[in-house]
Amino acid sequence: MTNETLILSKFDAGVLVLTLNRPDKLNALNFALTQALVDALKAADADDSVRAIILTGAGRGFCAGADTREFAILTPDNQALVEQRATLTTELQGLGKCLSKPLIAAVNGYAMGGGSGLVLSCDLALATPDARFGYPEVKHGIVAAIVMAGLVEHVGRKAAFELVACGRTVGADEALALGLINRVVPAEQLLDQARELAATLASYPVEAMRATKQIFHEVAQLPFNEGLQRGRALNARMRAFRHGQETPA
Ligand code: COA
Repeated sequence: MTNETLILSKFDAGVLVLTLNRPDKLNALNFALTQALVDALKAADADDSVRAIILTGAGRGFCAGADTREFAILTPDNQALVEQRATLTTELQGLGKCLSKPLIAAVNGYAMGGGSGLVLSCDLALATPDARFGYPEVKHGIVAAIVMAGLVEHVGRKAAFELVACGRTVGADEALALGLINRVVPAEQLLDQARELAATLASYPVEAMRATKQIFHEVAQLPFNEGLQRGRALNARMRAFRHGQETPA
């Protein structure tokens, strides 16, 4: 299925690939694409036939962040629109960890600003050797604001501050070293490897995967002892997941 800006492709084993489709603008996030992504991710989460989701970009970019051409209308004179845009962007950047299904980024080029944020909102990320990551907002006289929480959560404070304050762009190897991504893979294998990974995750029992993702994101935000107790509670509940199942070999 295709709409103007987002391509939805469903594969065997419950793997859904969402392809940002504004290649001539390096898949910059305008209102339409941001809304389409939010809607597609929510629909995928509600669809039992989808068990893992991949995000990628058409063309030579993953996502160049907010569409700078829309900045002209996002002014204090249009505060209602500014608020609407901020809410929509916040919803998109926060959605990944709220989904019950694993979300994988297949980063095929530039991932800038909100595009880098989108990568960090995914549970796993593969990238091609020519992928580049950065937060150039300050150069536009704005702030990498909504993506800040995800960045600080992923990399140390010094590295995060350098990225947002200097607007420096980093390549795939440095992104890997910083913990922005999981793996660097050859460009021609990117989608195959992402689909293989997604199919593996999709093959595991749904309830266990959902609970794994949920508790992972919960404990990441909790003090150790509270996280431990959350784990204890899940440990006692999870025995029911396997009720009636054979022990895997
Ligand atoms: N919003 C809107 N359009 C964008 C865009 C963005 N964030 N990023 C790139 N584009 C458009 C360019 O305007 C150009 O369109 P055009 O051919 O109609 O002029 C097209 O995408 C290709 O970009 P170009 O700059 O020619 O590619 P490049 O390879 O020389 O540079 C980047 C790639 C990513 C370094 C550069 O496009 C860039 O810096 N983009 C802005 C990134 C950004 O600041 N994002 C955060 C915004 S807050």
